[in-house]
Amino acid sequence: MKAVMYRTYGPPSVLHVSELEKPVPKPNEILVRVHASTVTSGTVWLRRGAFPGSRLMTGMLRLIAGIFRPRRPVLGVEFSGVVEATGNRVTKFHPGDAVYGTTTGLQQGSYAEYLCVPESWRGGVVALKPSRLTFAEAAALPVGGMTALTLLNRAGNLNGRTVLVYGASGSVGTYAVQLATYHGASVTAVCSTTNMALVRSLGADEVLDYTQTDLTRLGRRFDVVIDAVGKLPASSRNALLRPGGRFVSVMSMTGETNQQLERLHQLVEEGRLKPVIDRIYPLDQIVAAHDYVDSGRKKGNVVVDLVTAGRKQLTSALLAFGLFIVAIGCSPTHMRLKSEQPDNPVLEKLYRQDVAIRKLDAETDTVNLERYDKVHRERVFTLLAENAVITPLDKLRAAWILQHTAAQLCEGTLTSISPENFLLAYKLSSSGLHDLVQQQDTATIRTYNVARVVALNYDRYLLYTTGYQKFGTQFVFDDKTGEMWLAPIDTTLATDEERKTYQVAPLQQLRATYKIKPK
Ligand SMILES: NC(=O)c1ccc[n+]([C@@H]2O[C@H](COP(=O)([O-])OP(=O)(O)OC[C@H]3O[C@@H](n4cnc5c(N)ncnc54)[C@H](OP(=O)(O)O)[C@@H]3O)[C@@H](O)[C@H]2O)c1
Repeated sequence: MKAVMYRTYGPPSVLHVSELEKPVPKPNEILVRVHASTVTSGTVWLRRGAFPGSRLMTGMLRLIAGIFRPRRPVLGVEFSGVVEATGNRVTKFHPGDAVYGTTTGLQQGSYAEYLCVPESWRGGVVALKPSRLTFAEAAALPVGGMTALTLLNRAGNLNGRTVLVYGASGSVGTYAVQLATYHGASVTAVCSTTNMALVRSLGADEVLDYTQTDLTRLGRRFDVVIDAVGKLPASSRNALLRPGGRFVSVMSMTGETNQQLERLHQLVEEGRLKPVIDRIYPLDQIVAAHDYVDSGRKKGNVVVDLVTAGRKQLTSALLAFGLFIVAIGCSPTHMRLKSEQPDNPVLEKLYRQDVAIRKLDAETDTVNLERYDKVHRERVFTLLAENAVITPLDKLRAAWILQHTAAQLCEGTLTSISPENFLLAYKLSSSGLHDLVQQQDTATIRTYNVARVVALNYDRYLLYTTGYQKFGTQFVFDDKTGEMWLAPIDTTLATDEERKTYQVAPLQQLRATYKIKPK
């Protein structure tokens, strides 16, 4: 099986994907085929072997995780997946059960295709996966959710209380806002400008921007202050807390229990709680995933997808031909798409060339821009301009190729693209991929390696974005106003400033110039 290992503490580059023996469950354990895991702040500390700003805590972490090097070389704490086998003393779970949980704190090991955990504590907290959640969402629930539950329990009865959640856009913060709202508190959430719309959508009554508001001068005090990110300055805390009020912080010891996991399950099924997923990385992009979380800017949770890796392993012989098979449309999805209309053979050929180039990129772990010759790309644009790209499959093939174009444009390594070709590239992304998002055809989206396709519903904007994570860029389109942007992938365009910075061309102007009819 594939697993992400680290032999020394350090930066994300210490992580590498290796082959390991599939584990065998002990009598009290279940063997889980892991579908998803996460990169939490805690996973980052384990990888670094250091706790931010505290030698004492670093010492404690090293005592448990290994003094000089990691004692347990497979990283990863949270997981979701399906029980594949059970030990003979297991009574609670059965093969085929969808489960989620943690390997509890410092035990680690969930960045692997298979994982053994005891059916009950100690050494693993596991429960049935809430049916409302995808595997990716379920993997992101335990650590942040249980920590938020613990903090709220410490805060006492919240009904009718005023609660301030500081760091509301992180994993713990997004859960804390939802839980405090559910418990009847009047919630004031604090985050940066970029995350205000997200936090408001979680139910906060009021959202304050910490980059604009001096909390020491707010002139209001709260019954409870929750520091969900561990960065609230003491001066602000003192100014915000009413006399006799409660202050709780993530910078304290919290525990994990099966009861908490079951409570989270219940809250999710009742529709009270939902994980916020920022990004999903395939297992082989684990270094990029850790790089991103190291930035300290993640919104909610970052997920690691292990199913793609599993598929690769299962079809190792097929791997070399896999993309080719997809290209000629042999999967059931593609058969369905093909039956709608014949594909464009020229585009199919170009697509196959591009697949081969990407394979080279993947093998060498570099993106060699020179491999993407301009002529090759221009032919795709010509096909688009001639309206020869008609079927959803054609659109996807062209999208595959044009993701690079967009990325290079954004990076400034490609400057010669004409506005009409840019628009066509954009149109393609927003129609072909948009269709698939609407149909929730995630299998096809994944097959085509479009790393991130999301529809974000902000107060005023419905944004469709497609991006290619290796380049960190995305197209964004506002379906209501017709505006469009080419922006770094972590941009939400929730602020006027960001929208101004990354806007690339007014769609209406381009439509008029190139006589393209609106959808
Ligand atoms: N006690 C426990 O068992 C436990 C469990 C889980 C987590 N934790 C700890 O809790 C902390 C939060 O973890 P997490 O995973 O929930 O958070 P996280 O997702 O890593 O937090 C990142 C978020 O915090 C925001 N942020 C960054 N600097 C900020 C600041 N100065 N003021 C306000 N917000 C800021 C960021 O957005 P902007 O930069 O845009 O503001 C980002 O959305 C970590 O230190 C983690 O180790 C403790």
